[in-house]
Amino acid sequence: MLKSHFGLIGLGVMGENLVLNAERNGFSSAVYNRTCSKTEEFLRGRGQGKNIQGATDLQDFVGKLERPRRILIMVKAGAAVDAVIDQLSLFLEKGDLLIDGGNSDYQDTESRVKRLEGKNLGFIGMGVSGGARGALEGPSMMPGGTKASYLAVESLLTRMAAQVEDGPCVTYIGPGGSGHLVKTVHNGIEYGIEQILAEAYDLMKRIKGMKGDQIADILAQWNSTEELSSYLVEITEVCLRTKDSLDGADLVEKIMDKAGQKGTGLWTVVTALQLGAAVPTIYAALNSRVMSSMKSQRIAAESSLKGPAVKDCDLGSSSDAMSPLMDAVVLSCVASYAQGMELLRIASSSLDYSLHMPSIAQIWKGGCIIRSRLLKRIQDAFNTDPQPVNLMMDSWFVYQVNQRLPGLMKVVAGAAEAGVPVPCFSSTLDYINSYRTGRLPQNLVQAMRDCFGSHTYQRLDKDGSFHTEWLS
Ligand code: 3PG
Repeated sequence: MLKSHFGLIGLGVMGENLVLNAERNGFSSAVYNRTCSKTEEFLRGRGQGKNIQGATDLQDFVGKLERPRRILIMVKAGAAVDAVIDQLSLFLEKGDLLIDGGNSDYQDTESRVKRLEGKNLGFIGMGVSGGARGALEGPSMMPGGTKASYLAVESLLTRMAAQVEDGPCVTYIGPGGSGHLVKTVHNGIEYGIEQILAEAYDLMKRIKGMKGDQIADILAQWNSTEELSSYLVEITEVCLRTKDSLDGADLVEKIMDKAGQKGTGLWTVVTALQLGAAVPTIYAALNSRVMSSMKSQRIAAESSLKGPAVKDCDLGSSSDAMSPLMDAVVLSCVASYAQGMELLRIASSSLDYSLHMPSIAQIWKGGCIIRSRLLKRIQDAFNTDPQPVNLMMDSWFVYQVNQRLPGLMKVVAGAAEAGVPVPCFSSTLDYINSYRTGRLPQNLVQAMRDCFGSHTYQRLDKDGSFHTEWLS
């Protein structure tokens, strides 16, 4: 049998769909899965009649690939990736290339690139977004590693990726773990937008008494606007319209209100804190998942900790697409993207990744979970100024903030008076208010630090470092 162009290890749903995608795009493939029955099942099922051959063990798999070998690993992030690399390395030869397409920690990827490049093997850490369907039809892909490694798989990746008006949704991200870092931050933004839409739903449900279909109608209106047209708004509308087959009621109301997470949102926040980037909207989304998991405590507290009764406030009406609420959603989404991009900008300079911000916005415009029309504006903003201090300072975004801030303020104040939590909306409001305040009260924090710890302070009126004996 002819040797295959491309190899895949790990026939989970993402792996299966990615190999079918590669094969559809003209790349004959070999597949290996630790449990052989899974490989046989795939070849008898979805892989049947395709230019895909199965392998029984890793040596057999490696022998079925043309050189230099190009192997995509789709196994659970962490120890499993190292185990596969170690076993596979025994059979690889100089110039062969491995791609880790899972959600790996960028620091793990950083050390894997160094380790394998030291053995003359290429290694790419590649973020893949788009879910199962995206993997099959065209995902957004974020590959990082050496440029030479990327060039060895460029034609494969550009054919597999989603396509938008200005090209495929894949580009060389940068060295080391940069591809996985960009995917991690992508997911942090995703956490933000999911929580923002959940807060909007909660306000419409609890304050306005709206049902799933009525809320879905508002989302449909939002999805037709430049500011909010996006995949996540689109699927949220679908979720809200879906009925329980048992009784025809809104299915979302039957779902346990505890949100899980696989780690990338946490890594986004930890990385941001380590690098000194402010990501309050994304952090609020992460913390909301943490608090959601405290279900039994929340139920117990409901009867003891008395807040205000839920009361009406101005969220707008269906005839104006819930205008103030839409303002809150738009600005919070803008803040999520701005914070994620700012984190990438800081990471790029601290870690020497030379990230090209317009290209990152470009490859997120299609295929991935956070794809949206707003990304075109973000791409334009970074094309105008590749290193803006903050996305919100681009003229289009300045206009959005100035137009929509009163609506966001109204929603946060109304939610506070009604006792409904809106962590992303309120964090966004504080983020914008802090960012647009020339003088913050941290002068007093500095005074306290100097008072108890002689940490010194700077003055506004003269240069230098000062200390005062405050307690003498
Ligand atoms: C993924 O990459 O699997 C999801 O986009 C994010 O997953 P999570 O919400 O389970 O962390």
